[in-house]
Amino acid sequence: MTDSPHKNGTTRRGFLAGTAVAGAAAITGTVARADAPDPAITEVQPWARYLGEGVDARPYGTPSEHEAHVVRRNVEWLTADPISSVNFTPIHELDGIITPNGLCFERHHGGIAEIDPAQYRLMINGLVDRELIFTLEDLMRFPRENRAYFLECAANSGMEWRGAQLNGCQYTHGMIHNVMYTGVRLRTLLEEAGVQPEGEWLLAEGADASAMTRSIPMEKALDDCMVAFKMNGEALRPEQGYPVRLVVPGWEGNMWVKWLRRLEVGDQPWHHREETSKYTDLFADGRARRFTWEMDAKSIITSPSPQKPISHGPGPMVLTGLAWSGRGTIPRVDVTIDGGINWHEARMDGPSWDKSLHRFYYDFEWDGSPMIIQSRAHDSTGYVQPTKDELREVRGENSIYHNNGIQTYAVAADGSVENVEIA
Ligand code: MTE
Ligand code: CO
Repeated sequence: MTDSPHKNGTTRRGFLAGTAVAGAAAITGTVARADAPDPAITEVQPWARYLGEGVDARPYGTPSEHEAHVVRRNVEWLTADPISSVNFTPIHELDGIITPNGLCFERHHGGIAEIDPAQYRLMINGLVDRELIFTLEDLMRFPRENRAYFLECAANSGMEWRGAQLNGCQYTHGMIHNVMYTGVRLRTLLEEAGVQPEGEWLLAEGADASAMTRSIPMEKALDDCMVAFKMNGEALRPEQGYPVRLVVPGWEGNMWVKWLRRLEVGDQPWHHREETSKYTDLFADGRARRFTWEMDAKSIITSPSPQKPISHGPGPMVLTGLAWSGRGTIPRVDVTIDGGINWHEARMDGPSWDKSLHRFYYDFEWDGSPMIIQSRAHDSTGYVQPTKDELREVRGENSIYHNNGIQTYAVAADGSVENVEIA
């Protein structure tokens, strides 16, 4: 067998023979150690001295105890109580594009509804030929589809309008998750009910204590919306709307009604608290914009980041992050490590699905000096992610929602990372 050339010219045989010494590792750029003997490999480790637990010890598997820090977290002072609150996905600890079910951020207005699936019903009423009530079993008898979509709360990054606030992408960008849904097209159910010609709006209502409602234009409802009952292959989690939630691809999370119980067809949008006050964007001149449903293209470097500092010295390193757009896919992400003087096209890896998260990497040799790092997403419509200052010129500083500005991190020589803004 011939030796395949290893990165930077070292060969596999050279590595195995242990020819490289510790000091040389940095010079050649090889990241693996070859300064044997290393007791972690030469000694029998504790876990090899006894037989482990058998197959039935963990009927529903959970992560290693060493991963106990990878959890959803909230920011206690953000909301008055945890019932009408939010916690955040630990995006700094994840890779790839799929969010594990137990780590999907939660946003509830009236706490988690615990629904008995046998008592679950979905009603379609209003301007339809036939008012219908579906059981969960009824829903399972329609042709179903599998699609991965991101859900981003419109308030994601909302604390950052006036400047860098929260130190960690979990807190600044973690109101997002990306899940493979299984469900029935909303269109299929609406066709079953027969939408009347004047039916141009849909009111989606949740079964939770907040009875949250949102108006959705019929055009979107008939396009790509889903009535989903599975996430990443298993039943929805109670936190995410068990047994059924609405999926509104690319649009703000607030419209993705959980614990979905009723869909009413009407001829105009409904007016209620969520839509008329809370989810409205202000402009600098005091005017407001309503009906800003599509999530603009955005990206975030997840590592290195304040909660994920660089843990090694100079040499090869992997910078990675997420990018997404409510209008399509992300063909390109640019990365800078010198505050925008030079931009490098990142390497996209993994599936590129419509309105789904995209994973990017920038693999480079870190010289050990401080860096100012940023990422900039381009979406399939040609839209380029703006800087925070460009956004503020249009929207002022009193906005809360739809902040998709470029995030800046300052990386120190010791590898620590801080949320900053540069002029
Ligand atoms: N649906 C109901 N019934 N009740 C709610 O409080 N919160 C909304 C939306 N759907 C909510 C709801 C908001 S504001 C968001 S951002 C998403 O659900 C959050 O979905 P998640 O908890 O799966 O992250
Ligand atoms: Co929300």
